[in-house]
Amino acid sequence: MIKTIFFTVLTLAFFYIVWINNIFAPHEKYEMPPEHRMIAMDYKNAKEGRELFIQNCASCHSVRYDAIYPAQVQANPMLKQLQEKYGKVLPRDVYEAVFMNDLNSMKESYGKIPPDLSTIYLVKGPEYLYNFILEPQKVLPGTAMPPVMTGRPEDTAKIIAYLMSVSEPSPAEKAKRNIMGVVTIGYLIVMGILIWIWRERILKRMGLH
Ligand code: HEC
Repeated sequence: MIKTIFFTVLTLAFFYIVWINNIFAPHEKYEMPPEHRMIAMDYKNAKEGRELFIQNCASCHSVRYDAIYPAQVQANPMLKQLQEKYGKVLPRDVYEAVFMNDLNSMKESYGKIPPDLSTIYLVKGPEYLYNFILEPQKVLPGTAMPPVMTGRPEDTAKIIAYLMSVSEPSPAEKAKRNIMGVVTIGYLIVMGILIWIWRERILKRMGLH
């Protein structure tokens, strides 16, 4: 009995944390107007967001998962050669080794290499990105990141939609994974019931019931 209660509570706690309220995830304290949040969470805006990213951000930032490289790296003839060998998305170690000089010269200009933004959405979430991109100085005082999107909250939200599309699976893929999850758990439940019935039968046959 105690065992049953213990494992039930443990299982419920596990799914509560995984699905409902992840107490280990960082809690957001940044605000984002709902209308801009809607734009940022809509995959349909990712394409336009990509164009906006290339215009406004790709001079400094890379999105390696999407084969977007900073202007300095694009100007380097090695890029084309390496892409012929490795494909459009270069392995990180190759990228960092070959373009070290270009990355370091950006460090000289900005005091820091502008980070690759392939997974920034997963790390920071939409609220932080929205506030940081619109007003970098307010969120990170003294940062070398310039305020390039001042007064353009909708475009900023579209850029976030793009960054989301790079680091998160597409809605179709997510739906597929959800179905897989439900099927797996359903299978476990059905098997559990069958094993339980089987056990009862064996106990009865043994005269223990
Ligand atoms: C002139 C170069 C430059 C441009 C253009 C630029 N950034 Fe940055 N960005 C930087 C630098 C440098 C940093 C590192 C700042 C730091 O850590 O202080 C940075 C940091 C960031 C970060 C990380 C913030 C963090 O908390 O770690 C994000 C996100 C970001 N930029 C997004 C963007 C987006 C989106 C655009 C286009 C709208 C953009 N940046 C345009 C130079 C630039």
